[in-house]
Amino acid sequence: MSAVMQEMQTDIGLVSTVVARSSLSFIDGEKGVLEYVGYDIDDLARNSTFEETTFLLWHQRLPSHSELADFTARVQSNYDLSDAMWDMIVSLPRDANPMHALRTLTSALALEDPNADDPSEEANERKSLAMLAKMPALIAGFDRHRKGLDLVRPDTSSSIAESFLYMLTGEKPTQRMARAMDICLILHADHGFNASTFASLVTISTLSDMYSAVTTAIGTLKGPLHGGANQGVMIMLQEIDGIENAESFIMDKLTRKDKVMGFGHRVYKSVDPRATYLKTFAEGIAQDTGNIDLFNISKRIEEIMDREVGAKGIYPNVDFYSATTYFSLGLDLDLFTPLFAMSRVSGWTAHCLEYLEDNRLIRPRCDYVGPHAKEYVDISQR
Ligand code: CMC
Repeated sequence: MSAVMQEMQTDIGLVSTVVARSSLSFIDGEKGVLEYVGYDIDDLARNSTFEETTFLLWHQRLPSHSELADFTARVQSNYDLSDAMWDMIVSLPRDANPMHALRTLTSALALEDPNADDPSEEANERKSLAMLAKMPALIAGFDRHRKGLDLVRPDTSSSIAESFLYMLTGEKPTQRMARAMDICLILHADHGFNASTFASLVTISTLSDMYSAVTTAIGTLKGPLHGGANQGVMIMLQEIDGIENAESFIMDKLTRKDKVMGFGHRVYKSVDPRATYLKTFAEGIAQDTGNIDLFNISKRIEEIMDREVGAKGIYPNVDFYSATTYFSLGLDLDLFTPLFAMSRVSGWTAHCLEYLEDNRLIRPRCDYVGPHAKEYVDISQR
């Protein structure tokens, strides 16, 4: 090993490596605190909107009344897709995983942007806004296509949350449903250097482009250890099929050393504040929509997990109660992770914009443990 390598610490999984400074989200994993630019997540979930929260992340301050109105109008005017994009949606295989569809369609947005490679701050913000505004149509459009339904164009007079639900169902959502969706979008908007945000930073640090950075992030979010966990939670709740089966189901999983989806976190070793908020919220919406049994199974699982592994710092994370919330909102299970992307795009792009202010290529080293000085053997001799 070279002298330089000897001085370096190997940190598998980057568990204790700080790779950059950021002013966007603060997480205290011991106390269970999450703040966006200094504002407590609970305060934002109660009082803000997804549009305002995105402005906050992009500009690192809350907007004035007129700034928010202007920002919202710009987002709304970008909701709709070109005919070519709608055509592309209906050309996709109906049985495709919606995350594959979303990744492909987001990447395709770059093809019709003549300034996709313009690296200026202004162009990067414009591209971020385009992706934020169009992702709901990409997700809802693909969902309707695969179900053989007519596509519904966005409602450019309503919020991202409301327009998304409208495109998905073809009906105006109730205010309560739209607000539930809006709150989920706020809660998932940013979370420090999570795997997908970090992946987007790796891409942007090469001075690639914003579309590539977000496409990278979508691919990373898809994994079951990251954004795919919310779908895993719902599958588990359906498998349990009755509160009386929860104890044996969870104990079997723990005995087999399987991970229980929706529990544990790399950073939070106490309660994930997003889960606390969502728990109350999930109960209300589950009650309203006739899904309270599902909520009660979740509560039972939380009790069992607390008894069995709470001492190890394993608590419900954001995915645990968002699963019940999304299901109660009538979303298909495989739309849960695309919905996560639809929100996190605001954080991905915010971090890319911030990182580009003082860019440095992200390029870690590996600890080579393979052989050395082997003699090449001709293929005829092997
Ligand atoms: N169920 C059961 N045991 C668990 C769980 C779980 N969900 N999570 C961690 N543990 C145990 C794990 O078995 C290990 O035990 P031991 O020390 O006895 O071997 C210990 O806790 C440490 O686990 P780890 O996997 O080494 O911890 P990590 O920091 O590498 O992983 C995690 C964090 C989120 C990947 C993991 O907790 C997990 O796989 N959870 C389930 C998937 C999930 O819900 N992911 C969503 C994360 S939050 C949203 C997001 O950021 O995308």
